[in-house]
Amino acid sequence: MRDPASLRSRRWFAANDMRGFAHRQRMQQMGLRREDVLGRPIVAIVNTWSDLSPCHAHLRERAEAVKRGVLLAGGMPFELPAMSLGEVMVKPTTMLYRNFLAMETEELLRSLPIDGAVLLGGCDKTTPGLLMGAISMGLPALFCPAGPMLNDRHRGRSVGAGTHTRMFWDELQAGRIEAEEWVQLEARMTRSPGTCNTMGTASTMTAIVEALGLALPGSTSIPAMDAAHPRMAADCGERIVAMIAEDLTPQRLLTRGAFLNAAAVQMALGGSTNAVVHIIALAGRAGVELTLADLDAVARRVPVLANLFPSGDKLMEDFYYAGGVPALMNRIRYQLSLDEITVTGRPLREQLEGREASDDDIIRPLERPVSPHGALAVLTGNLAPQGAVIKPSAANPAFFRHAGRALVFDSQPQMLAAMADPDLDCDENTVLVLRHAGPVGAPGMPEWGNLPIPKKLLQRGVRDMLRLSDARMSGTHYGSCILHASPEAAVGGPLALLRTGDIVELDLEARRIEMRVDAAELALRRAAWTPPPQPCTRGWTRLYQQHVTQAHEGCDLDFLQGTAPTPEPAIY
Ligand code: FES
Repeated sequence: MRDPASLRSRRWFAANDMRGFAHRQRMQQMGLRREDVLGRPIVAIVNTWSDLSPCHAHLRERAEAVKRGVLLAGGMPFELPAMSLGEVMVKPTTMLYRNFLAMETEELLRSLPIDGAVLLGGCDKTTPGLLMGAISMGLPALFCPAGPMLNDRHRGRSVGAGTHTRMFWDELQAGRIEAEEWVQLEARMTRSPGTCNTMGTASTMTAIVEALGLALPGSTSIPAMDAAHPRMAADCGERIVAMIAEDLTPQRLLTRGAFLNAAAVQMALGGSTNAVVHIIALAGRAGVELTLADLDAVARRVPVLANLFPSGDKLMEDFYYAGGVPALMNRIRYQLSLDEITVTGRPLREQLEGREASDDDIIRPLERPVSPHGALAVLTGNLAPQGAVIKPSAANPAFFRHAGRALVFDSQPQMLAAMADPDLDCDENTVLVLRHAGPVGAPGMPEWGNLPIPKKLLQRGVRDMLRLSDARMSGTHYGSCILHASPEAAVGGPLALLRTGDIVELDLEARRIEMRVDAAELALRRAAWTPPPQPCTRGWTRLYQQHVTQAHEGCDLDFLQGTAPTPEPAIY
């Protein structure tokens, strides 16, 4: 147990000088007593609530529950607003701002009298953003998840956020649903505050954080609107005070074993491909070596067991009733490193005792996986020498070995305009390609990788095609989409050299993605290639484009990677 005299916040509040006087004085200005901040651990509640972040609409109330827990445990809570990255509203893409939130979190904790932090987030990029910053700052930190929204049904079938939006849109384009039903559907699928109720990026990332040991056991599966959710938030507040006393920092929890556990959970969930980028970025902040090859190896040995959209046909509320993340982890415990310590201060092995799945249809037994194909395959070849990814469990096996003529688009507007063209030169075997959609090129690597099916093919009944890009794809989406081609086209990756009409070949079993263009021809194209202009000349986007790393490296900013200590501010 650490000596309370060693609390970081005492640098602000305990000094018997003019600065210490001013810090205490300003607390008293807010109605606090001298003893409220002297000798008590100060807890930051970093809150990504905003009026334009529907997934986090309840986080203001949850912050109050966290405060209750902190106060009951003898700490002093302060709520700090941070950038709110509502996935659907923020343009051009929240991914452009994940590192911004990470930097903001690190600097909030660094610049203020904070001893430990509870991080309130959940919508896709908020989770890695908050955690990356907290890991770099190195104070005790605990993630309090927003929780998934409630299930919904439409005309007798389960419908979920993201997955069914795309599905119904395709049906509308094909003329199979009426405009009136389309308007009705606006009020469906997203039934309450909370994160997407499918196994999208949000639920993948919060489960990964739980598996890493940075969230309370079972916390990430609790629906946002369940009464258990504010109780869990109060538990977070109580536990962080103890973590401060134990000096239980992220560095003490985040081993390579913990990251491999998190990867195993991603695969067993049939989790989002976006998690690949985030987990590598998190590992980079923790100083843990983790590569695409490591993730591919985990995907080969861990089957998809969670029967959740888009790989399965259930929603997050069902998953909670079936036992949630602890029950899933218990089912793959033979694949996990059980000695890893979590925010509870106890080893994972103890936390999983007795956490049995209560519904074998939702959390499947090992001998009856949701899909015979894994949640991830990492591809390499002359189109992606540093790697690309595909989610086999959400793709059409007919494309696992496929060669087709490329139809290449240089921008999202160009691609979208072409999709409605009844004379577009393509058929169901064509490989649709989008480039300049990576971390530098877009910029921000938006979720454009699930290229729409051309309208003329939708009307003929085609619902999937092989697609290739340097973009990402929403975790709620599905389809035969090869994503994250690295290096991206905008920095001269070989995707830049591909031309419409070239043959693109996927061999999933061999983990290869190639263009059938000989080396001499590629050399000629390389000599003629010039980088596309980067139109952004100012602000965060310019800084981002200059420093973002490639997808296989986690898309962090190069100067934020690694474990160099964050310097403490001078107090004068
Ligand atoms: Fe927020 Fe899906 S849009 S979690």
